[in-house]
Formats: sequence, structure tokens, C-alpha cells
Amino acid sequence: MKLDLCPSPALYPYYKTDNDTVIVVDVFRASATMCTMLNNGAKAIIPVSNSKIAKEYKSKGYLVGAERNTRRCEFADFGNSPFDYTPEKVRGKEIVFTTTNGTRAIDVASDCKELFIGTFPNIDAVAGKCLKSAERVVILCAGWNNRLNIEDTLFGGALAEKLLEKTKVEFDSDAIRMTYELWLRVKNNLEEYLKLSDHYQRLIDSSAVSDASYCITPNSISFVPTYNKTDKKIY
Ligand code: MLT
Repeated sequence: MKLDLCPSPALYPYYKTDNDTVIVVDVFRASATMCTMLNNGAKAIIPVSNSKIAKEYKSKGYLVGAERNTRRCEFADFGNSPFDYTPEKVRGKEIVFTTTNGTRAIDVASDCKELFIGTFPNIDAVAGKCLKSAERVVILCAGWNNRLNIEDTLFGGALAEKLLEKTKVEFDSDAIRMTYELWLRVKNNLEEYLKLSDHYQRLIDSSAVSDASYCITPNSISFVPTYNKTDKKIY
């Protein structure tokens, strides 16, 4: 299997090839939030990259999760904390969802062969999906405003390690080689290391830092959200 990592949505055109399996990762926090809402029984997620469209859905009666700059948009039912999406609130519902970077990453890669949402809480399940069918996997980091971030990049290293345990993996660019090396250096001290990151500080500033541990704890969820190209929803 070939494996690559695209550090930001803006660079995706330079990393993509035909036939890619893309893993969209936004460690803090959109990926964990999407995994949680589906794991808690939501019927589907309708990802939208634009908050204006999310607002239109809201006026039509949909439940809407919307976040910008780590804070809930005032018109929305939920923000971007995984703990907002309890089974009582989401079971059986379709949730319209927009976040600063995570849903933008989904948008740029939506024409790929198959698109999964990955993060630490579902990492083993994501590795399982890749091992089943993927020829070339691209880990697409949501980053922050098209800039690289540490946490999404490190998830790439963690997934590389999982795949290497099970199969022969060919690293397809320096991005994944560097990431894997960094992962091996910091993996035993992940939360401490991530306290250095820009986004950890943003979570502190928005009183949302209590979400951080959940977002980097592996394997609380065995579900892999999967984008359906036909109806543009995530199941
Ligand atoms: C994003 O999409 O940029 C993030 O998930 C932001 C956040 O932590 O709310």
C-alpha cells in the first residue's frame, strides 16, 4: 500500500492521484465530533463548507452544528464539542455540520475514490478500512486556515504506525516520512506535546480544552464515518 499525507487542504491538488482513499482528519475537533454523532445514533451528517448554507438548512427545520474559530455560531443548535451530540439529541436525526476547517477538507476531497473520517478515537477502525481495500491512502489534514497543524499531522504518523504493523507500506512523499519520525518521538507524551500547539491554546481561550483528551484518546469508537458521493452525506 502507498501512503501519503497532505498537510493542508490548499495542498491537496498536489498530493492527490486517481484512485485514492482519503482520510480526512481534524483532530481538534471536527473528526471526533462527527464520529461521536454517528456513534450516538445520528442517521447522517450533511457536511457544508459554508455557514450561510448551514443557516438556510436551519431555517428549513434541520438540526445544525456550526462552528467558526472554535465557537458555536449563534444560529446553530450545536457547536463543535463532541459532548454536545448526546444520543438523546441526535438519535435518528440528520445533522447539518459546518466547521472552520474540517468540513472544508471534506469539500476539497469529495471527488476521491473513497473518503473516510479518521481521528484518534477511531484509529484502529480506520486502519482496518484502509487494509481492506486501499491501494493508495492520503491522510488529508484539515489544518488551520490552510496552514499546517501539529495534531492532524501527528495522527498521520500514528496511522502509519498502525498500517506498518499489518502490511507493507510505501511512503509516497517526505510529508509522511517526517510525520512518522515525529510521531515516534512524541507518541508516549502526546497530550503534553500537543499543549504546544496553536489549537490547544485556542481551545483554552474558548473554554473548550476539556474536549482535548477525548479527541486524542484512541479507540473509544469503532465506527468509521464514510462520505457518500451520490447524496453528499456522511454515514
Ligand atoms: C475546525 O474545523 O477547524 C475545528 O474542528 C475547530 C474546532 O476545534 O472547533
